[in-house]
Amino acid sequence: MNNIILIGMPGSGKSTVGRAIAKKLDLEFLDIDTMVVEREGKEIRRIFEEDGEAHFREVEHLCVLEAAKAQGVIISTGGGTILREDSVAALRASGQVFWLNRPLEELIPTDERPLGDTREKIEALYHQRYSLYEAAAHVEVVGETAEDAAEKIVEYYREGDLPQGK
Ligand code: S3P
Repeated sequence: MNNIILIGMPGSGKSTVGRAIAKKLDLEFLDIDTMVVEREGKEIRRIFEEDGEAHFREVEHLCVLEAAKAQGVIISTGGGTILREDSVAALRASGQVFWLNRPLEELIPTDERPLGDTREKIEALYHQRYSLYEAAAHVEVVGETAEDAAEKIVEYYREGDLPQGK
Protein backbone atom coordinates (compact mmCIF):
# COMPACT_ATOMS: atom_id res chain seq x y z
CA MET A 1 0.00 0.00 0.00
CA ASN A 2 1.27 3.40 -0.91
CA ASN A 3 -0.40 6.04 1.21
CA ILE A 4 1.50 8.85 2.91
CA ILE A 5 0.41 9.17 6.55
CA LEU A 6 1.31 12.08 8.84
CA ILE A 7 1.44 11.73 12.62
CA GLY A 8 2.61 14.14 15.31
CA MET A 9 1.59 16.44 18.11
CA PRO A 10 -1.33 18.88 17.87
CA GLY A 11 0.04 21.96 16.13
CA SER A 12 2.92 20.13 14.43
CA GLY A 13 1.50 21.07 11.01
CA LYS A 14 0.04 17.75 9.87
CA SER A 15 -2.89 19.28 7.98
CA THR A 16 -0.84 22.07 6.39
CA VAL A 17 1.93 19.70 5.34
CA GLY A 18 -0.59 17.09 4.17
CA ARG A 19 -2.43 19.57 1.96
CA ALA A 20 0.87 20.81 0.51
CA ILE A 21 1.97 17.25 -0.35
CA ALA A 22 -1.43 16.45 -1.88
CA LYS A 23 -1.14 19.53 -4.08
CA LYS A 24 2.43 18.79 -5.17
CA LEU A 25 1.65 15.17 -6.05
CA ASP A 26 -1.92 15.80 -7.22
CA LEU A 27 -3.28 13.22 -4.79
CA GLU A 28 -6.37 13.17 -2.59
CA PHE A 29 -6.03 14.50 0.97
CA LEU A 30 -7.88 12.88 3.89
CA ASP A 31 -8.00 14.47 7.34
CA ILE A 32 -9.07 12.17 10.16
CA ASP A 33 -10.29 15.05 12.38
CA THR A 34 -12.50 16.30 9.53
CA MET A 35 -13.86 12.79 8.95
CA VAL A 36 -14.75 12.55 12.68
CA VAL A 37 -16.49 15.95 12.62
CA GLU A 38 -18.48 14.96 9.52
CA ARG A 39 -19.44 11.57 10.93
CA GLU A 40 -20.60 13.05 14.25
CA GLY A 41 -22.07 16.27 12.86
CA LYS A 42 -20.35 18.43 15.48
CA GLU A 43 -17.03 20.05 16.25
CA ILE A 44 -14.34 18.17 18.18
CA ARG A 45 -14.59 20.32 21.31
CA ARG A 46 -18.33 19.56 21.50
CA ILE A 47 -17.75 15.83 20.98
CA PHE A 48 -15.32 15.83 23.94
CA GLU A 49 -17.71 17.87 26.11
CA GLU A 50 -20.94 16.02 25.31
CA ASP A 51 -19.79 12.46 24.55
CA GLY A 52 -16.37 12.16 26.20
CA GLU A 53 -12.90 11.25 25.01
CA ALA A 54 -13.59 7.48 24.86
CA HIS A 55 -16.36 8.06 22.32
CA PHE A 56 -14.15 10.41 20.32
CA ARG A 57 -11.38 7.76 20.23
CA GLU A 58 -13.81 5.09 19.02
CA VAL A 59 -15.06 7.28 16.15
CA GLU A 60 -11.48 8.33 15.39
CA HIS A 61 -10.52 4.65 15.10
CA LEU A 62 -13.41 3.93 12.69
CA CYS A 63 -12.32 6.87 10.54
CA VAL A 64 -8.73 5.59 10.56
CA LEU A 65 -9.91 2.17 9.34
CA GLU A 66 -11.91 3.83 6.57
CA ALA A 67 -9.04 6.09 5.49
CA ALA A 68 -6.56 3.21 5.59
CA LYS A 69 -8.59 1.37 2.93
CA ALA A 70 -7.86 4.12 0.40
CA GLN A 71 -4.91 3.91 -1.98
CA GLY A 72 -2.56 6.63 -3.14
CA VAL A 73 -3.83 9.26 -0.71
CA ILE A 74 -2.33 11.59 1.88
CA ILE A 75 -3.74 11.02 5.39
CA SER A 76 -3.40 13.57 8.17
CA THR A 77 -4.21 12.09 11.59
CA GLY A 78 -5.26 13.63 14.91
CA GLY A 79 -2.47 13.97 17.46
CA GLY A 80 -3.87 11.16 19.63
CA THR A 81 -4.31 8.56 16.88
CA ILE A 82 -1.11 6.84 18.03
CA LEU A 83 -2.75 6.02 21.40
CA ARG A 84 -4.47 2.98 19.87
CA GLU A 85 -2.29 0.12 18.71
CA ASP A 86 -4.95 -1.10 16.29
CA SER A 87 -5.12 2.34 14.63
CA VAL A 88 -1.33 2.44 14.32
CA ALA A 89 -1.27 -1.08 12.84
CA ALA A 90 -3.91 -0.16 10.23
CA LEU A 91 -2.03 3.00 9.24
CA ARG A 92 1.37 1.32 9.04
CA ALA A 93 -0.12 -1.42 6.84
CA SER A 94 -1.60 1.18 4.47
CA GLY A 95 1.54 3.14 3.66
CA GLN A 96 4.50 5.04 5.04
CA VAL A 97 4.05 6.83 8.34
CA PHE A 98 5.89 10.17 8.69
CA TRP A 99 6.27 11.77 12.13
CA LEU A 100 6.38 15.57 12.08
CA ASN A 101 8.57 15.99 15.15
CA ARG A 102 8.26 19.73 15.65
CA PRO A 103 10.14 21.17 18.66
CA LEU A 104 7.98 21.54 21.78
CA GLU A 105 8.46 25.33 21.95
CA GLU A 106 6.92 25.70 18.46
CA LEU A 107 3.69 23.87 19.39
CA ILE A 108 1.05 26.53 20.06
CA PRO A 109 -2.01 25.77 22.24
CA THR A 110 -5.37 26.59 20.59
CA ASP A 111 -8.93 26.71 21.94
CA GLU A 112 -10.40 24.21 19.52
CA ARG A 113 -8.05 21.51 20.84
CA PRO A 114 -9.54 20.30 24.13
CA LEU A 115 -6.40 18.34 25.07
CA GLY A 116 -4.04 21.01 23.78
CA ASP A 117 -5.53 24.34 24.81
CA THR A 118 -2.83 25.30 27.33
CA ARG A 119 0.97 25.17 27.30
CA GLU A 120 0.94 22.86 30.34
CA LYS A 121 -1.31 20.35 28.56
CA ILE A 122 0.81 20.44 25.40
CA GLU A 123 3.99 19.83 27.40
CA ALA A 124 2.46 16.91 29.29
CA LEU A 125 1.15 15.32 26.07
CA TYR A 126 4.52 15.76 24.39
CA HIS A 127 6.33 13.84 27.12
CA GLN A 128 3.65 11.14 27.45
CA ARG A 129 3.50 10.49 23.72
CA TYR A 130 7.03 10.99 22.44
CA SER A 131 7.91 7.29 22.46
CA LEU A 132 4.56 6.37 20.88
CA TYR A 133 5.18 8.67 17.91
CA GLU A 134 8.68 7.28 17.62
CA ALA A 135 7.43 3.68 17.60
CA ALA A 136 4.57 4.36 15.16
CA ALA A 137 6.70 6.16 12.56
CA HIS A 138 8.61 4.74 9.61
CA VAL A 139 10.31 8.11 9.07
CA GLU A 140 10.96 11.06 11.40
CA VAL A 141 10.86 14.56 9.88
CA VAL A 142 12.62 16.97 12.24
CA GLY A 143 12.52 20.72 12.76
CA GLU A 144 11.37 21.79 9.31
CA THR A 145 9.03 24.51 8.10
CA ALA A 146 5.79 23.11 6.67
CA GLU A 147 7.02 23.74 3.13
CA ASP A 148 10.38 22.02 3.77
CA ALA A 149 8.71 19.05 5.45
CA ALA A 150 6.31 18.66 2.51
CA GLU A 151 9.19 18.84 0.01
CA LYS A 152 11.24 16.27 1.91
CA ILE A 153 8.35 13.81 2.05
CA VAL A 154 7.58 14.33 -1.65
CA GLU A 155 11.22 13.56 -2.47
CA TYR A 156 11.07 10.28 -0.56
CA TYR A 157 7.92 9.43 -2.47
CA ARG A 158 9.26 10.35 -5.92
CA GLU A 159 12.51 8.50 -5.41
CA GLY A 160 10.64 5.44 -4.19
CA ASP A 161 13.16 5.59 -1.39
CA LEU A 162 10.83 4.78 1.45
CA PRO A 163 12.27 2.70 4.26
CA GLN A 164 10.34 -0.54 4.67
CA GLY A 165 9.16 -2.21 7.86
CA LYS A 166 11.05 -0.41 10.64
C1 S3P B 1 -6.05 15.38 19.73
C2 S3P B 1 -5.62 16.12 18.65
C3 S3P B 1 -6.55 16.80 17.73
C4 S3P B 1 -7.91 16.13 17.72
C5 S3P B 1 -8.42 16.01 19.14
C6 S3P B 1 -7.49 15.17 20.02
C7 S3P B 1 -5.05 14.75 20.60
O1 S3P B 1 -6.00 16.79 16.40
O2 S3P B 1 -7.87 14.87 17.11
O3 S3P B 1 -8.58 17.31 19.65
O4 S3P B 1 -5.40 13.85 21.40
O5 S3P B 1 -3.86 15.10 20.49
P1 S3P B 1 -4.76 17.71 15.94
O6 S3P B 1 -3.51 16.96 16.26
O7 S3P B 1 -4.98 17.85 14.47
O8 S3P B 1 -4.87 18.99 16.67
